[in-house]
Amino acid sequence: MQNKSIKTKYYSPAEDTLFFANHIQNEKGKSALDIGTGSGYLANVLLPNFEVVIATDISFDATKKAYHLIQNCICCNAADPLAMKFDLVICNMPYLPSDKIIDPAVDGLDEGLVVPLQIIKSAKNVIKKGGKMIYLTSSLANHKKLLEEITRLGFHTKIIATKKMFFEELILVEAVLK
Ligand SMILES: C[S@@+](CC[C@H](N)C(=O)[O-])C[C@H]1O[C@@H](n2cnc3c(N)ncnc32)[C@H](O)[C@@H]1O
Repeated sequence: MQNKSIKTKYYSPAEDTLFFANHIQNEKGKSALDIGTGSGYLANVLLPNFEVVIATDISFDATKKAYHLIQNCICCNAADPLAMKFDLVICNMPYLPSDKIIDPAVDGLDEGLVVPLQIIKSAKNVIKKGGKMIYLTSSLANHKKLLEEITRLGFHTKIIATKKMFFEELILVEAVLK
């Protein structure tokens, strides 16, 4: 018999989620992808303005939670299994520098760069030419190096918003695929 008292683990919407949501609510297009959807909050913000919204998360608990908001929800690494192309890909990155991935919601490995770069490389394969990715990182990560790496991958990048928090500055980046 299923033990109903077992709690699932996923990233609950926080201040970074709401900051991100404010900057994507007017985005429009045919297809959008939310990588690392957590609770599904950001994917749900995109739903009214896109014909198709897909969400992915590496955490099965997250996809179970997100399914209530977004039915096209897949448990996988970044965009790896997806064959379709998207106008917009978003990701609120796990950006904290770490030696190991203990919590996939926040741990980004060396300089907070390794996981975000893996996610962006995977996303690049599913972004339409001229389409874009919007991602959130922080002053706690080596965000400048990340911008350099992404430019090298063929994106035109710009910081579209920042928000000062107690311990860090949140940085929202738009990366358009050339
Ligand atoms: C900072 S949380 C953001 C959650 C949610 N998007 C939000 O804004 O509230 C990062 C999310 O990315 C997921 N994640 C981490 N690495 C991933 C990967 N390689 N592929 C897919 N999802 C990943 C985590 O499980 C977590 O749900």
